Amino acid sequence: CGIVAYTGSREACHLILKGLKRLEYRGYDSSGIALLENGELNIYKKKGKVADLESQLSEKPFSATTGIGHTRWATHGEPNDVNAHPHFSNNRRLAIIHNGIIENYAAIKQNLTQKGHVFHSDTDTEVLIHFIEDIQQETGNALEAAVRLALKEVVGAYAIVVMSADHPGQLIAARKGSPLVIGIGENEYFFASDATPIIEYTKNVVYLDDYEVATVNQGKLSIRNLDSTETVPYIQLLEMELDTIEKGGYDHFMIKEIFEQPRSIADSMRGRLRAADMHLQLGGLNNYLEKLACAERIILVGCGTSWHAGLVAEYLFEELARINVEVEYASEFRYRNPVIRENDMVIAISQSGETADTLAAIELAKSKGATIFGVCNVVGSSIARATHAGAYTHAGPEIGVASTKAFTAQVTVLTLIAIAVARRKNTISEETYRQLLGALEAIPGKVEKVFEHASRIKEIAYIFTYARNFIYLGRGFNFPVALEGALKLKEISYIHAEGYPAAEMKHGPIALIDEDMPVVFLATRDSSYEKIVSNIQEVKARRGRVIAIVTEGDTLIPEMVDFVIEVPEVHEILTPLVSVIPLQLLSYYIAVMRGRNVDQPRNLAKSVTVE
Ligand code: G6P
Repeated sequence: CGIVAYTGSREACHLILKGLKRLEYRGYDSSGIALLENGELNIYKKKGKVADLESQLSEKPFSATTGIGHTRWATHGEPNDVNAHPHFSNNRRLAIIHNGIIENYAAIKQNLTQKGHVFHSDTDTEVLIHFIEDIQQETGNALEAAVRLALKEVVGAYAIVVMSADHPGQLIAARKGSPLVIGIGENEYFFASDATPIIEYTKNVVYLDDYEVATVNQGKLSIRNLDSTETVPYIQLLEMELDTIEKGGYDHFMIKEIFEQPRSIADSMRGRLRAADMHLQLGGLNNYLEKLACAERIILVGCGTSWHAGLVAEYLFEELARINVEVEYASEFRYRNPVIRENDMVIAISQSGETADTLAAIELAKSKGATIFGVCNVVGSSIARATHAGAYTHAGPEIGVASTKAFTAQVTVLTLIAIAVARRKNTISEETYRQLLGALEAIPGKVEKVFEHASRIKEIAYIFTYARNFIYLGRGFNFPVALEGALKLKEISYIHAEGYPAAEMKHGPIALIDEDMPVVFLATRDSSYEKIVSNIQEVKARRGRVIAIVTEGDTLIPEMVDFVIEVPEVHEILTPLVSVIPLQLLSYYIAVMRGRNVDQPRNLAKSVTVE
């Protein structure tokens, strides 16, 4: 979900609507705004996109200068007008927006109902604002103190902003486990789930920490922890530029982000790699390189696409650095009582840096004494802060819900780390080291070359627009790419797709193959080339329709299959960085042709801060 709040001298409604649109990638099943107008709180909310709310409000004249807004990804209660945020307290003098889950809301609700509170929605959020109101009335405390007391009783995760009809210009915000950024302008303040709604107004931001409560009152910001101890706000300068969060002439963020990859991959290596003088250095790695080199085992944790980047890294670390690797779904790892030894190193991978399961996996590993290294894209995110050290992927903001440039940046950074560790361990020769650095530096140019085939990929997408199923097959470094290709297609086109190791096909999925089954083979020229050729024959023998991703100049496979897409030749360990690109484009074009909402696919959210 996404939070935006404002207090200052600008007209709040349109500023908040604009901010909500920027955050819409975080959740988009309903949205709402609360404004302080003539001493009353008014709430406007609507099921559907922010644009639906906007058109409902377009006729109304607004003058409020304080307000809170929310775009929702439903957890408690179905997405409808009533369950959308903001929510009122019982006397309608307070309103709240909330991300996260209040786990003990049912007990609190029961107690409040007995006291006469009437609830209008099924949400845990409404319970929280009634609870705050109840504490305020019982104790006679100021609102800020009531918020702190309520939050001490609450179990779960939250980022909230509360406003009161009785205190114009006051906003109270708090976080635990769900991100919240405060933008500081001149006599104005912005609150948001991430910096994207803020950067066009100010670059000065404070990232709120867990258990902190921020209050803006009479133009002043103060931050206290739940025990009321005041902390000095640490103001940071945002490095993000506005054009990185706008579509810049493209139809969708996803296609913009796919085409951005030569630059985002280069950015992820900038200042870290210079092949000419064999320079490879990651600042965050400095004190941990030795520890990684001595690690008996590396455990990689992540979810979704980030988990796929972890699978690529498994091949990299084993191949280059000869370290035993395990790749874990964060959600499984955290509940499994995993065996973690002192010499294990955990690498957590996350684009958003906010994924609840990944964060919980980190806390668990930490509690067992492991050292955790983070590979995150969002600077200042919770995971980046929870880890002992880390390397940012520097891909820039990724807005499309289906991850593209974040994946290639993750793989690039993990490759840099694997090479650095391998060199330190002496498991690769100086000559191999030199070759790999050169090969990596050349990757952005090679990715650019894949785009030359975009119109061919579009034609193939046209042919398969209405396929009901897809299978993606690959071996070695291309196996995780097969999984990622299938995930991309599922996410944005809603076509059922499965990724499989090509050799495993004969143990099950082969039963699915007939003339209606498109099979995408990752068949680049590498050490398993002959094997994959046999797998292609197995599919063709059963009349499957094959689309093969092949290395430029391949003459054998084009003779055997229905469609080919060429990618430039690269060092085998770098294959995923080029072979994933046509799969991203294929799923994008298919989804567009099917009329799907590519940037905001149904039921998904970019940043999943609930488990
Ligand atoms: C969500 C997104 C996926 C993403 C996954 C992990 O499900 O829709 O695209 O891969 O979360 O997110 P993270 O931010 O931790 O990489």
